[in-house]
Amino acid sequence: MADALHTGSAMPQTSHTMPVALQINGRPWKGEVRAEETLLEFVRERLRLTGTKRSCESQVCGACTVLVDEEPISSCTYLAFEASGKRVTTIEGLAPVDGLDPLQEAFIRRGAAQCGFCTSGMLLACKALLQAYSEPTREQIGRYLNGNICRCGAYVQILEAIQDVVEARQDDASGLPQQGGHAAPDAAKANPAAQK
Ligand code: FES
Ligand code: FES
Repeated sequence: MADALHTGSAMPQTSHTMPVALQINGRPWKGEVRAEETLLEFVRERLRLTGTKRSCESQVCGACTVLVDEEPISSCTYLAFEASGKRVTTIEGLAPVDGLDPLQEAFIRRGAAQCGFCTSGMLLACKALLQAYSEPTREQIGRYLNGNICRCGAYVQILEAIQDVVEARQDDASGLPQQGGHAAPDAAKANPAAQK
């Protein structure tokens, strides 16, 4: 089993803390969190996983998107203790050890990142989309990505990158079972920011 990332010993002193045990990017973490500590604060400030971005802090922009049990959530409004017993994936956990996720390669190929501020959240929202749907429709893409704002307007390139991954899967499949397969979540539930 992988070593624990952190024991929580550097936790700020607060009046009320809660025990948490979770998986973060495939590694176990066990410790105490402040009752009011958001998952965004937890990953950025405690674990120093700063690929998750802080922007609106009001579940509007999607820059802080992470996956909790494979579903995209806005970590700025999700309390860290709610993730206890769950698997949390940040952008640092998306790529395999020996390369990049196909989505990351497609984003690079298509120029789907300009300033890059939205990119980690956008990639994780796209990852959840492509885990839920092997061939997502425009409507399904829209529902998953509606809560992720790209102020650089790279939406066309992002759609092209998604399409690249879908087409590569189709080429690879050729008689093999499709990837993904867990029941498609309701996007509004999976990513509450998508309702904004
Ligand atoms: S920082 Fe969380 S949605 Fe904007
Ligand atoms: S690439 Fe700049 S906000 Fe999306």
